Amino acid sequence: MASITLQDLTRVYPPAVPALTGVSFEVGDGSFVVLLGPSGCGKSTALRLVAGLELPDRGRILLGRRDVTTLPPGERNLAMVFQSYALYPHLTVRENLLFPLRMRRVPHAERGPRLARVAELLGLGELLDRAPAQLSGGQRQRVALGRALVREPEAFLLDEPLSNLDAALRGELRSELLGLHRRLGATMLYVTHDQVEALTMADRIVVLREGRLEQQGTPTELYDQPATTFVARFIGTPPMNLLPLDAALPATALVASGAPPGAARCGLRPEDLRLGAEGLEAEVTLVERLGSETLVHLRLGAQLLVVRAAGQAAFTHGAHVRVTAARERRHWFDAAGQRLR
Ligand SMILES: Nc1ncnc2c1ncn2[C@@H]1O[C@H](COP(=O)(O)OP(=O)(O)O)[C@@H](O)[C@H]1O
Ligand SMILES: [Mg+2]
Repeated sequence: MASITLQDLTRVYPPAVPALTGVSFEVGDGSFVVLLGPSGCGKSTALRLVAGLELPDRGRILLGRRDVTTLPPGERNLAMVFQSYALYPHLTVRENLLFPLRMRRVPHAERGPRLARVAELLGLGELLDRAPAQLSGGQRQRVALGRALVREPEAFLLDEPLSNLDAALRGELRSELLGLHRRLGATMLYVTHDQVEALTMADRIVVLREGRLEQQGTPTELYDQPATTFVARFIGTPPMNLLPLDAALPATALVASGAPPGAARCGLRPEDLRLGAEGLEAEVTLVERLGSETLVHLRLGAQLLVVRAAGQAAFTHGAHVRVTAARERRHWFDAAGQRLR
């Protein structure tokens, strides 16, 4: 396996769509890095550049120490898995798995053992003689992964591989992929717009916004210390509450003391707000009961807030409650949305 290094990568689609601008980061050997951001922020472009399906206008790509910036895809020894499974419908699972080996003229004697290893690893043994049409969505995605694995690449590039699956299956395959990553020690660059996938799977997350790198770090760093209001709102559900610091707004009294110089907004995660006997009075506008927790939506003056309460909290729409904000868990941002301190 090898590390992947992106240096100052820039891609402008003709005539003038700046899909990626000056993006640099590294995927360490054997690590699982998630490239995260909303639709259209340049994630697939970055992956296609690494795969060699497109050339950058500026910047370099290294695989280990090897500069592969202008090498054709076939000479990079990377495996790419897409959102759509793209299995050959007229071939069996076995033939689908062997296809990349045939294409690469891997010696016949090696093909059987490689197939057996991948089938074992992914639990595909029983499915080898089936056609893709006879498989469930999850099984098909597993075969698509198998087809990438069987090539024994230096690293994996995965572009939203779970987006087409229903929630239960997504959860299941998420853990399977992680298990696979650990067993193989494989270098993986994984693209998604789903922050839950990023938080649960990544060693490191790289957040892209409009083609630029917004922040990178471990899931914990990004959750606990978002560098910008964009990251603060993009990571975590429900999103962080952002209160404008304006003496005219009643909600500002929740956090008014302790604001550092230059602070324009205070961020509070839903779990860092408390409902109880003390604090500012607010009106309950909506109660979402999720079983293990309850999301209580409040109106405090003109400010809307979401509070996460444990368990089946007994709040009702229209009730008046009191709310306080945990002191040590406040996030301060300046007028441009940059984190302070
Ligand atoms: N082949 C292309 N030609 C022109 N514009 C493109 C092309 N591919 C992507 N784009 C544009 O580049 C931007 C980034 O796209 P993409 O990398 O696919 O984003 P993501 O994968 O994050 O959704 C978008 O504005 C998209 O419309
Ligand atoms: Mg994409």
